[in-house]
Amino acid sequence: ADDQAQERIRAARARLGSRAVLLCHHYQRADVYQHADLTGDSLKLARLASQTDAEFIVFCGVHFMAEVADILSRPEQTVILPDLAAGCSMADMANLAKVERCWRELTEVLGKPDELITPVTYINSAADLKAFCGEHGGIVCTSTNAPVILDWAFAQREKVLFFPDQHLGRWTGYKKGIPLDKMVVWDPDLEYGGLTPEQIRNARILLWKGHCSVHQMFQESHIRRWRMQHPDGLVISHPESNLDVCINSDYVGSTEYILKTITAAPPNTRWLVGTELNLVNRLAEEMKPQGKIVQFMAPTVCMCSTMQRIDPQHLAWALENLADGKVVNAIRVPPHEAELAKVALDRMLAVS
Ligand code: 13P
Ligand code: SF4
Repeated sequence: ADDQAQERIRAARARLGSRAVLLCHHYQRADVYQHADLTGDSLKLARLASQTDAEFIVFCGVHFMAEVADILSRPEQTVILPDLAAGCSMADMANLAKVERCWRELTEVLGKPDELITPVTYINSAADLKAFCGEHGGIVCTSTNAPVILDWAFAQREKVLFFPDQHLGRWTGYKKGIPLDKMVVWDPDLEYGGLTPEQIRNARILLWKGHCSVHQMFQESHIRRWRMQHPDGLVISHPESNLDVCINSDYVGSTEYILKTITAAPPNTRWLVGTELNLVNRLAEEMKPQGKIVQFMAPTVCMCSTMQRIDPQHLAWALENLADGKVVNAIRVPPHEAELAKVALDRMLAVS
């Protein structure tokens, strides 16, 4: 069945020609990734989506990435997500109702949050949250540009509300020298985030209590044990990992950064990698001829189950429908939401 799906993808692509471009995130499974026209991390894919002329942008990634592609592409272009169930569990940890409630509670404590707090949303979030940031003088960030975005945010106002990933927010703040006790976790399921008015007033960064289920598996103890066996080895992690993992890594950065760093490293080096397994497996295979050894950080298998949903069968089905003139699984962000989200995304693209 798999071979059949591969053949169907090739045939449908041949019928579509340059009308369709296939954008692929680095976490995509090998049997999908091999069909990519262009690959990247979230920031690179956002830029690529804004630059392509193709009529159909077939997005092999997750829902929030396809939304960004829709917002940044032209109205006559259509973004297709081959399986609409490909979400992001971290993105789902924040929603508009909870963020608005947070803003209301901050208003009660601080008076005017619009003058005191810059809302920063990680790109791993729904379009309406990006719109919220657009409306309230905020901005979007990715794992690549989080440091410059944080500088921008603090240049506007004295505090930052960072959602939904507490780990990226904390690591970025830590790198900027913000004391750990000035970064407090806002629990959206508790009144006032579970914080006292004093804690809210003292905070520089309010970190939303969200995380990535894949990256939470990586622990500092994995690094410590590995280093004992491989004292010359190098450790590289994605900033969605917890602070201890990031502090104890030699390099920290986005999926594109991880790929580039290991690709450019000298031959015969050994790497421990804290990010999703599909990317690590691909790197391990590709680096073998240069004698580079690439190992996965956690003892358990952890893949991003939602990225994994984009399989050859769904891709073949979507492409065949497009080739037959039938648009399926189009991602269309409502215009009013898209307009405000674009304000926050454009701020990000201008800064980074
Ligand atoms: P990147 O932008 O680094 O590709 O990260 C996206 C993501 O979801 C990582 O889990
Ligand atoms: Fe979301 Fe984590 Fe999957 Fe990235 S790896 S898409 S943050 S669930």
